[in-house]
This record gives sequence, structure tokens and C-alpha cells, in this order.
Amino acid sequence: MKKTLLLSLSALLCLTANAEKVELSTPHNTLVLDLWKGGEPKFVYYGEKLSTSDLASLPEPTNANWSHLEIYPAYGATHTQSETAFAMRHADGNLSTQLLVENWTKTSISDKAPNGANRTGERLTITLKDPLYPNIVHLYYQAYNDVDMIECWTDVTNSEKATVTLTQFYSSCLPIRRGNVYAHHFHGSWASEAQLTAEPLNNGILEIKNKDGLRNATTDRQEVMFSLDGYGRENEGDVIGAALMYSGNYRITIDTDDTEYHYYFAGINPDNSEYHLKKGETLTTPHVAYTFTHEGLSGASRNYHRWARKYQLRHGDQARDILLNSWEGVYFDINQQGMDQMMADIASMGGELFVMDDGWFGDKYPRNTDNSSLGDWVVDKRKLPEGIEGLLRDAKKNGVKFGIWIEPEMSNTTSELYEQHPDWILKAPGREPVLGRGGTQVVLDLANPKVQDFVFSIVDNLLSKYPNIAYIKWDANAPVMNHGSQYLSKEDQSHLYIAYHEGLIKVCQRIRDKYPDVVIQDCASGGGRANYALLPYFDEFWVSDDTDALQRVFMQWGTSYFFPAIAMASHISATPNHQTFRTTAFKFRCDVAMSGRLGMEIQPKNMTDEEKMIGKQAIADYKRIRPVVQFGDLYRLHSPYEGDNLASLMYVSELKDKAVFYWYKLETFVNQHFPRIKMAGLDPQRRYVVHELNRIDNQPLPYEGKTFTGQYLMANGLEVPYSHDVDYHKKNDWASRVLYLEAE
Ligand code: DGJ
Repeated sequence: MKKTLLLSLSALLCLTANAEKVELSTPHNTLVLDLWKGGEPKFVYYGEKLSTSDLASLPEPTNANWSHLEIYPAYGATHTQSETAFAMRHADGNLSTQLLVENWTKTSISDKAPNGANRTGERLTITLKDPLYPNIVHLYYQAYNDVDMIECWTDVTNSEKATVTLTQFYSSCLPIRRGNVYAHHFHGSWASEAQLTAEPLNNGILEIKNKDGLRNATTDRQEVMFSLDGYGRENEGDVIGAALMYSGNYRITIDTDDTEYHYYFAGINPDNSEYHLKKGETLTTPHVAYTFTHEGLSGASRNYHRWARKYQLRHGDQARDILLNSWEGVYFDINQQGMDQMMADIASMGGELFVMDDGWFGDKYPRNTDNSSLGDWVVDKRKLPEGIEGLLRDAKKNGVKFGIWIEPEMSNTTSELYEQHPDWILKAPGREPVLGRGGTQVVLDLANPKVQDFVFSIVDNLLSKYPNIAYIKWDANAPVMNHGSQYLSKEDQSHLYIAYHEGLIKVCQRIRDKYPDVVIQDCASGGGRANYALLPYFDEFWVSDDTDALQRVFMQWGTSYFFPAIAMASHISATPNHQTFRTTAFKFRCDVAMSGRLGMEIQPKNMTDEEKMIGKQAIADYKRIRPVVQFGDLYRLHSPYEGDNLASLMYVSELKDKAVFYWYKLETFVNQHFPRIKMAGLDPQRRYVVHELNRIDNQPLPYEGKTFTGQYLMANGLEVPYSHDVDYHKKNDWASRVLYLEAE
């Protein structure tokens, strides 16, 4: 915003003379807004919970130092030079909008969270109106009673006489006071998801966006942590977390203008998505979830994890099974005997679930590689003569549960589905479809209710016929490659991206209404759909198609900022690794996978006896620590991004009676020096017995079975040897440790 005399004068007058402070609190956070009727809604405060007296004394927002502080600036009437949250073309062609507070209400809520759990809290609803037009915009701020999270979203209703067009419609805007603010966010690519970037916010704009159409977490991610006092530290320092919760194209803009604030905007990406609202229609934006903590980046992560397990993630309170997934073991080479062998092998190592991945379906066009058959969800009887019945029988015989892979939103041009319904795919009018994976993959048009029915029926047919299917892996391996819906009218082609995701969520909701219990994995070419819009329907997500343990240390580190370990599928795979061709030690692979939801992604019959033995031990040990990893609090201790070849983290149970400590050496050099890692999150007064898990060394660690106070472990840590004490022929350049701490 420019420092025009006119604007600053009017702002000063209205703000100092008229203010109406409204507060909303969680157990440890308070948000204060100024909702003076007839003025623009303004930001006053977001941070540590305020006492009643501090709240009363809190100064009204002023435009001192040129700060304007609007929480939902609309384009055209007051704001033309600054970034705005909202812009529209009115029915009469007017491009200007002014959104002023008409009224606000605060109500207690007691309802169902997205994952079906009961929740309570308080909701602030702010009604905004343009003095010139009848349209209503609501801003919602919803605080939880038991977790430090405030969700915000917006809806806009067209009350004009004819259709209006929304050209910008962010979910939320949060002013963040300048200081030494760093944005910690994530970028990536296929097989390299969730790479951490931390950068200081400077004058100008930082834009984080996705335009994939389907997989909005493969590249940039929609979650940002703002460290308010310099480069973020893990367990101290003020941090604001902001997670947009959308499954489609998004845009996050952090605008640092010539005032004292950075302005964070987040919402649906309006690129090629202008939205027409007919008279009487409402558009509701996705939510943004905010948290504040003094406990550093890990503290903000813990807030997200608690909220996620309780209210966002499906079955966030139920332990996850240890599974074997067939993909990297056999790829498309599926057959009855092979599946039976894999089930027997995972059962013999103590696993609990077997998942048959891609390659099991197709009649006229068998799915032998990735160039055909998506959409033809019938068992390929040449590969599986006894069908799913036979597989379920073998699973029962082997004492494991059974799961199955599908990719329901897709087809191939080589498929019976495409032959029957060429009009069901996304493609631009008058053009041949651009084709994806395998040279034939196309995306079904989920804007079309018939396609929604079809996608629902894929899951419905499987689960109604085979109720013993315990797990579904739902994959999605294509972006929107063609802008064109054969269902939407020519006027509403720009609704494609939004309508697709509305359709997807409708299907997911129908599935959960009918099948609340089945476990479903959210996979999209790896971690392409790790987002809080879809997680209420899914139990977990596949972190990445890259199973290389070394790169996983980095990817799981990044993923853990916003997502809890219980949701992070993390599998032990073969070496040389199929993506990086690196050979890491089997123990290292186990130790890395055991920091998430443990599984295997390997052909067990190719494992050596020693690997099977270590794998079996790892599974047994994971069963002991599962409650701590999957439900505990995460403390990241030493970042792999420090560049000194070391990473360390730990989980601590809620009661602080158990903890698991992980230590990974990322590269070996002779005469290497590492810091001793201090632990965190323990009860300083309690005494913990230390046991090493996944031990391969000839001699136990000198502190094996010994007892230390939490105070000592947090002040000093334990020395970890930089290599393993194993026979010479077993030496390699990987070293890692997992220590289990149990309070006496
Ligand atoms: C991509 C997934 O990320 C993999 O795990 C695997 O399921 C393949 N698709 C199968 O085509």
C-alpha cells in the first residue's frame, strides 16, 4: 500500500475513534480482531494466550508505521495498490468491491470434525457487506477447545440480480509483524517430495503455488511455518504455522509491502479458474489452519500432529498395521502363487497386512505395464484364476489382512472404459487428448456426476463383494493435462479445477459414509496428495516413490513438519535402491522406516537370511514402540539440512513415560566429528532405562540397560558410536541407532 495522505488519515480516524476488539482463544493461543461495524475487519493480535487484563489493555490497531492490517482486503474501492484477498466482477461490470463489517457473532460449537470425531470449540462468524451491493461475504474463525488450532475460511453469496464472476477468492489473510521472519516451506518433485526451504521474508512477494490439477503436494507444498525470530530453531522460538487445506490448485502469496507487516494470503489458485456465481449461489473456500507456539518448529509440528490425529486424519486414534506392499517386489508381475508367497513371507516376519499393488486387473486389456486398462476394474483371471476370493483365502491361511491397489480417477485410451465412455475424460474441446503415463493415461472428469458414481462404484463393488478387504491403496498418477470438461458448459469451463475437487471430495465422503472402517492410503505418484483436505477420508499417505533410506531421512523430516508419523507410510526396500541405486545397510533402512508407519516394499524371497532376521526383529521392536511413534509427540533434534551428515529426532509418549530416539549418520568420512545430541521432551525428574533396538553390534552399548534422569538426557544426551561393532566383512558406511527409553 502506498503511503497516501488520504488513506492514512481516513484509517487513523476510523481506527482510533472506533474499534471493537473481538478475541478467540485456544488453550494457549489468542487471536484478536477489530470488528468495528462499518469498518474493514482488522488484525490486532495473534500469539500466546492473553490474560484478561492484557486483552483489555491491548492497544487498538493503529496505522502507526503505515500498517493497514486488513484481514480480508477486497479489490477496487479502498485497495487497488496492495495485494487483495478478494476481487470480483459485479453483474453490472463494476470491478470494485468494498467489504465492511455488518455484524459478527461468536458461538460455541459441538459438532463432528472432518474425520468424524466429536469436537468442541468456538466459532466467530463475521458478516461483511459491500455498501453498494447486496452480496454477503462471511469470514469464519473456528477455535478448538483442546488443541491450539484456529481454522479460517470464507464464503461468498451472490445476491445481485444476475451472475457475478469471482476472480480472486483467498480463504484467509494473516498479517505477520516484520522482525526477522523466516518462512520454512517445502518444494519437491516426483521421488523427491517435501524438501525443506527456509528463507527470510524480504520486501516483495514470495509465491508458493500448485497448478498440477490433481496432485498438489508433489512439488510446492501448501503448508508454511513462519519463524518470527530468525532462522527457525526446532525446540525454541516463536512460530506461526499456516496450513492451507485444499486438494486442488492453490496459491499462497506472502506480500511484504512498505508497512510493518508481511501479509500471508492462502487459497484456491485463481489462475484459469475465475468462478461464476449465479444469483443465490454460494462459494465456500477451503480452510486454513493456524497455530502459534513458543516451542519452535517442532512445537508447531506437535500442535499440527495432535490436531491431525484427533480431528483430521481418519482413524487417527487407531494403531496402523505393519504391511508388505507388492510394488517394488514384483511390479506388474502379479500372480496367485506369487501373492501367496509374499503373504507367507511377511507373516513369517511378523507383518500384519499384505497389499497387492498395480497389475491385477483388466480383461480385454490385461494390465501388464502402465499403458493400459485403468478403468477396467475386473480381476485378470489369467493372473489370478481364483480371483479376489482366492487372495482373501490365502491371506486368511497366512494370518494376514489383505489390501488392494486402485487408481479410480483414471483411464487409459487402451481400455474398455474409454471405448465405452470417451466423453468421461478431461480434454479440451475440439482437441485430441494429451496423454500421460504409459503414453495412454487420461484423467476422468469428476465434475460429471456420472463419473462420480463410477468412481464410487469401484470401491463399492470391491468392498460390498469382499467385505474382508481391509485396506485400499488409492493412487493417482497424472496431472490435468488438458483444460476441458466435456460435462461443464462452455461458460463454466473455468470451473474445471474447482469442480473436479468438489467431485472428488463428494466421492470420498460417500465412501466414508458407507465404509467408515476400511483403511485407505492416499497415494499420488508417491506423496502427491499429502494434504489436509483429503486426509479426513484417508488413514495415511505414501510419503514418496523414493524408498532410498538416505533420501527418506530428508523427505520424512520435511513431511513431519505438518504431518504425524502415523500417517507417513515408510517402507523398507531392496538395494541397490530402485530409484537412487544406492546401497544402504539393511539396518539403516529398518531404522529409517521405523520412524514412520513401518512397512516393507521388497520381494522377501530375495532377502538374505540375515536380512530376514533383522527384519523380523525390527517388526517385533516396532510393535513395542508403535504407540510412541504413532501417538507420541515429535521432537526434531538435529536437522539433516544442517549439512554435517547427521540427523536425529525422537518421539515421546503423552505421559512422558516412554520415548524413542533415532540417530542417523548420513555419510561416512574418516575421523568425523559429530555433536552429542541432547534429547528433548522428557520429564526431567523421571528416570529412564535405555535399550537399543535393532541391535546388530557384537557388544551392547555401554549404557545398555542403564538408567538416566530425563534431566541428564536433555542436558547431555548419550554418546553414540560413529560406526557399528560388527565383523569386518559386515562393515559398511552406514550407521544408525534407535534407543528405546522407558521410565522406571
Ligand atoms: C505410483 C505409486 O506411488 C507406486 O507406489 C505404485 O503404486 C505405482 N504407482 C503403481 O503403478
